This record gives sequence, C-alpha cells and structure tokens, in this order.
Amino acid sequence: MATSEATGKSQPVASDSVVIRKCHDLDELRACVDLQKEVWDFTDAELVPLRLFVVAEKVGGQVIGAFDRDTMVAFALSVPGARNGHCYLHSNMLAVRVQYRNAGLGRRIKFFQREDALAQGFDLIEWTFDPLEIKNSHLNIERLGAIARRYSINQYGITSSPLQGGLPTDRLIAEWWVKSKRVNALLQTGSNPAMKAEHTISVPAQIYEWKASPELRSKARDVQACIQGEFLKAFAGGLAVLGYRRDAQGNGTFLLGHWDEPWSYDAA
Ligand SMILES: CC(C)(COP(=O)(O)OP(=O)(O)OC[C@H]1O[C@@H](n2cnc3c(N)ncnc32)[C@H](O)[C@@H]1OP(=O)(O)O)[C@@H](O)C(=O)NCCC(=O)NCCS
Repeated sequence: MATSEATGKSQPVASDSVVIRKCHDLDELRACVDLQKEVWDFTDAELVPLRLFVVAEKVGGQVIGAFDRDTMVAFALSVPGARNGHCYLHSNMLAVRVQYRNAGLGRRIKFFQREDALAQGFDLIEWTFDPLEIKNSHLNIERLGAIARRYSINQYGITSSPLQGGLPTDRLIAEWWVKSKRVNALLQTGSNPAMKAEHTISVPAQIYEWKASPELRSKARDVQACIQGEFLKAFAGGLAVLGYRRDAQGNGTFLLGHWDEPWSYDAA
C-alpha cells in the first residue's frame, strides 16, 4: 500500500526487517541511481549519476543502502566538504521507497550515517531541506536534533521533480553536530529539550495540496516567499531553528531561539 506523504497514514513495511550497510560495488551503486529515479522522478539531465556515487564512495563520502533481503529500499549519499579549515560531510540525498516510509527507516539510516561519520572523525553532517516539507522538517529537527541557522534561496534552480512542485528550491541548511549535547541528549531521551521559542514560523498543512496542484501552486509560492523573509530576518538576528511542532491539523511550526552550544565552523 502506498504511503501518503500528506497524512503519514498507511501500513508501512516494518523497518526492523531491513538491513542497513555501506555500499561499495557497482551494482549496489546502480541500485541507488534507480531508486533516486523512482523517488524524485527527475529527468536524466538532473539525476545524480552513477559516477558521482562511485566518486563519493572512494573519496571519504558515504553511500549507505537499506536492504529488504536483496532489494534496496532506501539509500543515503554524502560527500566530504570543507569550510574554514574544517572537514565535514554534506549529505546530498536520503530516499526511502514509498512502501517503507513512516516506519522509522529514514531515522535509522541517519543514525547509521552518524555512527559512520563518528568513526571517520567527523563532527558535522550538513544537508539542505525544503522548509515547506512538514514531514522532513519534523524528522530533521525533532527526531534527529539537527539545527538550522542558514537559508539558501533557490539553491538548485527550478527542477523537474514533481516533489518540488515547480517552486524555487529554497532550502534550510541542517547542521547535525553529531557529538553535541543536544544530539547526545536526544539519543537518550528521544526528544529535544523543552524550549520557550523566541520566534516561530509556521507552514500550513495544505502546503502539500497547494504544491501538487498547478491551480493552487501560487498559494504555496506565497507561503514560501513569506517564510523566506521571516527566516532571513530571524537568522540575521542570531536565532536558530531549535525545535519543531506539529498540531492536530498537521500544520508545522519552527521554533527559534539562541543556541547555547559553541559548535560552528563559521567563526574565524
Ligand atoms: C524524507 C524520507 C527520507 C523520510 O523517510 P521515512 O523512513 O519515512 O522517515 P521516518 O519514518 O524515520 O520518519 C518520518 C517522520 O515523519 C512523520 N510524518 C510522516 N508524514 C508526516 C507529515 N505529513 N507531516 C509531519 N510528519 C509526518 C512520521 O510520523 C515520522 O515521525 P515520527 O518518527 O515522530 O513518527 C522519505 O519520506 C522520502 O524518501 N521522501 C522523498 C525524498 C526526500 O524528500 N528526501 C529528503 C530530502 S533529500
């Protein structure tokens, strides 16, 4: 049965029968490209090609696959990056086959990614995500403990993926400080510490419907333009996204405050 991203309600395949491991051989890397095509439905020109998976695997990145018996059902791709003399991992893609979603597999792959990053000596994994995606925001901030304090306008240009609904690809940059107090506490308690937000930014539950419909897409664009301004102002004022709440109607709200840990590669 297909899993609805809009509601998260369905009968997903249990994730604990799925084995997660690093991928090395060409057939496994090819399976990642095939699954990428299935999940994003990009045109061939926009697909991340096999060659980049090969390079990532060879130069200290990560290609991680999740397998139900012999079939790949999810993958993650990371490449090494550097900023201000520090190395980190940039996680470029995470994809879970529809039938396997909402069973904790995405989270399991991220924690596998964290363990592997720690073993390689990295402190930071970054990735970008669409703040209009309520599900991804909840997963990244509330279930993984990432923070965000940078906003990138139309990062990839307008892409062919129906998941992106023809909108500018505005992205928040998730910073996952894998040794931080925040992430270690979350691993123990399963949630972020309670916080009093200094500022909030909300996304309505209807955003999925608006993005998917050519007639309603201008409403999604309006929300995007509005939150873009709010994030840029809040980040310029030193705030960071530290929490995320969903309400009973499925609306999502970013909770912003000042982060009290010193982790940063931006300081001189
Ligand atoms: C994003 C993605 C990788 C997540 O994988 P997953 O296996 O479904 O993730 P998990 O099951 O670990 O976590 C999903 C969480 O979102 C919640 N969720 C599901 N639908 C939701 C919705 N519409 N709104 C809010 N939260 C939602 C789930 O309940 C779960 O939270 P919980 O653990 O607190 O219950 C998967 O949806 C996917 O492949 N999406 C398409 C590609 C993509 O967007 N990739 C990420 C950017 S590169």
